[in-house]
Amino acid sequence: MKLAGKTALITGGTDGIGLRLARQLRAKGAHVILTGRTPGRISAAQGEGFEVITAELTGPDGVDAVLAGLGARQLDILINNAGMGTTHDFREALPDPAADERILWLNIHAPIRLIVLLMPMLRARPEAMIVNVTSGLALAPSTAAAIYCATKAAMRSYTQSLRAQMKGQTKGGRIHVLEALPPVVDTAMTAHMTKAKMTPEACAAQIIAGMERNESQVNVGMVKLLAAVHAVSPAIARRFMLNF
Ligand SMILES: NC(=O)c1ccc[n+]([C@@H]2O[C@H](COP(=O)([O-])OP(=O)(O)OC[C@H]3O[C@@H](n4cnc5c(N)ncnc54)[C@H](OP(=O)(O)O)[C@@H]3O)[C@@H](O)[C@H]2O)c1
Repeated sequence: MKLAGKTALITGGTDGIGLRLARQLRAKGAHVILTGRTPGRISAAQGEGFEVITAELTGPDGVDAVLAGLGARQLDILINNAGMGTTHDFREALPDPAADERILWLNIHAPIRLIVLLMPMLRARPEAMIVNVTSGLALAPSTAAAIYCATKAAMRSYTQSLRAQMKGQTKGGRIHVLEALPPVVDTAMTAHMTKAKMTPEACAAQIIAGMERNESQVNVGMVKLLAAVHAVSPAIARRFMLNF
């Protein structure tokens, strides 16, 4: 897809991978609208010249706020990037159901609602794209992050069915559906981790290169290796990741 002149919405665009996607898309000539929720990060993004819609996406009100913020604007690209995770050990305590619900909402319900509600608009564009940011953990789960891995695997499955249905769904051709699977990236989400991390700039650059090539799936960084192992033996990939 040619990105110049396109209008993109990035959820969770005020920090981390989303903010780097926003900067790099703008450098390619796209108009970028972000969603965020933390006032300091929202004003920092606004200070960079981005339009930001305030939306807490752990419930339906946040999705309504995004739609209200968009108004009559026409979108060509929807990037479902906002996400959060947690680790939990059932052997120590049971998880907080309300906390699990918030993760399910942010990682699954919100992106699916946005896809459904924005689809009439995307269908009307000459060329459109939906990017769902999942994770390498969508291929094979870790032991510690059960709920997070489950949400990412769910979005991977949804993305694959959606892609198969979207062929030929715009006037000009199709709604491209791209899944981006980052590895461990150096953002607020991974601040507690000591593992080697990719920079969010490099991660965003690989995703954008995939968008420009209309790829279906972007295995970012080390996820290329995981995907290669998974293609040969899902069992080996699973065993490796459960010990990751
Ligand atoms: N970092 C990694 O290692 C990694 C690896 C694989 C996949 N991913 C995926 O990549 C995506 C981006 O991750 P990231 O590491 O860039 O995360 P991040 O640095 O924590 O940024 C997340 C963005 O989402 C927003 N957000 C978080 N909770 C939200 C909520 N409840 N409602 C609305 N917005 C919310 C944040 O806004 P505020 O700053 O205002 O909270 C921020 O703009 C996520 O889907 C994540 O699962 C990340």
